[in-house]
Amino acid sequence: MAIFWRLLGFLRPHKVGVWASLLFAMAAMGFTVAIPALTGAVVTAIQDGDADKVRTFGLYILGAAFGRWILTVIRRLIAGRVSLGVEFDLRQRVYTHLQGLELGFFDRQQTGQLMSRATVDLQAVRFFLGYGLIFITQSALTIVFTAVAMFVIDPALAAVSLIPVPFVVWIAFRYGRIARPAQQEVQQRLAETTAEAEETIGGVRIVKAFAREDRQQARFEHAVSRVFAQSMYATRLRAFYQPLIGFLPQLGLALLLVVGGTQVINGSMSLGHFTAFYTYLVTLLGPMRMLGMALGMAQRAVASGARLFEILDREPRITTPAGAPPLPDGAGRVELRGVTLDFDPERGTAPALRDVDLTVEAGTTIALVGGTGSGKTSLVALLPRLYDPTAGAVLIDGADVREVDIDALRADIAVVDDDPFLFSATVRENIAYARPDATDEEIERAARRAQAAEFIERLPDGYDTRVGERGLTLSGGQRQRVAIARALLAEPRILVLDDATSAVDASTEQQIKLALREAMQGRTTFIIAHRLSTIALADEIAVLEDGELVCHGTHDELLEHNALYREIVEKGLPDQVFLNRKPAEPEVAGL
Ligand SMILES: Nc1ncnc2c1ncn2[C@@H]1O[C@H](COP(=O)(O)OP(=O)(O)OP(=O)(O)O)[C@@H](O)[C@H]1O
Ligand SMILES: [Mg+2]
Repeated sequence: MAIFWRLLGFLRPHKVGVWASLLFAMAAMGFTVAIPALTGAVVTAIQDGDADKVRTFGLYILGAAFGRWILTVIRRLIAGRVSLGVEFDLRQRVYTHLQGLELGFFDRQQTGQLMSRATVDLQAVRFFLGYGLIFITQSALTIVFTAVAMFVIDPALAAVSLIPVPFVVWIAFRYGRIARPAQQEVQQRLAETTAEAEETIGGVRIVKAFAREDRQQARFEHAVSRVFAQSMYATRLRAFYQPLIGFLPQLGLALLLVVGGTQVINGSMSLGHFTAFYTYLVTLLGPMRMLGMALGMAQRAVASGARLFEILDREPRITTPAGAPPLPDGAGRVELRGVTLDFDPERGTAPALRDVDLTVEAGTTIALVGGTGSGKTSLVALLPRLYDPTAGAVLIDGADVREVDIDALRADIAVVDDDPFLFSATVRENIAYARPDATDEEIERAARRAQAAEFIERLPDGYDTRVGERGLTLSGGQRQRVAIARALLAEPRILVLDDATSAVDASTEQQIKLALREAMQGRTTFIIAHRLSTIALADEIAVLEDGELVCHGTHDELLEHNALYREIVEKGLPDQVFLNRKPAEPEVAGL
């Protein structure tokens, strides 16, 4: 019930429309109720042989039908506007809310599930608020008014012929109640199917590469058959209840024909009244069914509303305190104090970072080294607050990142990750993502610095070439260079390159590094790389192992004092360039 009231709250901005359509519905109902009475009057006139009266009442009926037609058109237009308006508002609200949620929320969600809530559930809510509510009011009132009119004509006969009405409504309501969980389950399973398809399409490269179409097909078939089974159950419910709901009113009609017909023969009731009565009962058929249907709609809307509220009520866990200042001026001094990061405290897995203390002076380039899963990506994710540490604090230029304005913070940090995401837009738009106001010269300069200009100019439409969904029409190395250009254009205070050159060949990497050296003047840079050649370019090196910082210092210091680092250098990392090229390195070092 609480959900119901909250759903009604969505109508608040559309109050005028709701009242207007109710008003039009009432007026149309007035005509609906008038028509049977007029029909009875026509029959009486026929019996009296009064042709004038027949014509007059006939015209009245025509007028009433016409009036109802016009009013219904207007009512539908207004109600449609309300319904779509509610959908419009809700869509924006859900989308805005989703965008406001922290990254951690999305780690644990299936895209298909979220999509389903944003479409199926939203529709259910809007249908109910836009139409269902009016249908319920309209049909309930039609039933009441018609019943009153019938009681006025003949209370006893009214009582007899209305007997089935409460049963119909009760059964319709019951049906709605059983149908609701059944229908909800169909929606749930549909969402699972969507999620399944999503994953296959998103991972189509892997599916094809491993020739696992059959397996995906089987999984999908399983999901679809679950939808089928549940839909069949819902269909059985419908098959049983709906004809029953159609049948019961016929009982009333039969009773009326027998009892009322006998009364007309006895002379205790006029044929006119009898006809009016009969027409009233026929008029009731629609509203009775409608009431049942609309009640079902209400049930579904409440179920869907509950799922929507689950999202809307999920508070974002990473927010800026009101009126937070931007980052203080500075050149990007980063300090981690006793940082522990546990992605999933409930699961009891080992934290991704444990008690890390690390200070990186402004303008320094630091390389993060460590085995896979050692926490390198997790560490840099803390800087733009993609995650907040479970314990400890991250400070940039002396300010705790949790106490500064999050948008300003993120504008000062640019990240290039190992599998860069590009939007399906032009290359130009992708590079200018952080700064849509950038001029063409700025964009091209960023591309040149990232060693991307050459290949971009060779594309069919140059900078205006559209890249396919997620940038899949570019090679991995091309995507990385576009992503580096995007990061450079942002002119960040802190630059994070997470395996950002893993997909470019060694000579391109050298070129990028040379270019970056100039671009990185006066910025703090975090480089995560598996190639020793890259690591050697950093001023300092930090070695992570299982989430712990095991050592931090210059290359020479570590080589001298740290056995693990020595081991990494000697045999650990795949790229032996560092060892072989040692004499050449100083030229590119000091990046
Ligand atoms: N979003 C997440 N939710 C839960 N656990 C995560 C998440 N991201 C990373 N982890 C876990 O945290 C640990 C550290 O992962 P991280 O991505 O930081 O490693 P990494 O050092 O960057 O490794 P690689 O060199 O392979 O990129 C891993 O055990 C990983 O499973
Ligand atoms: Mg990583």
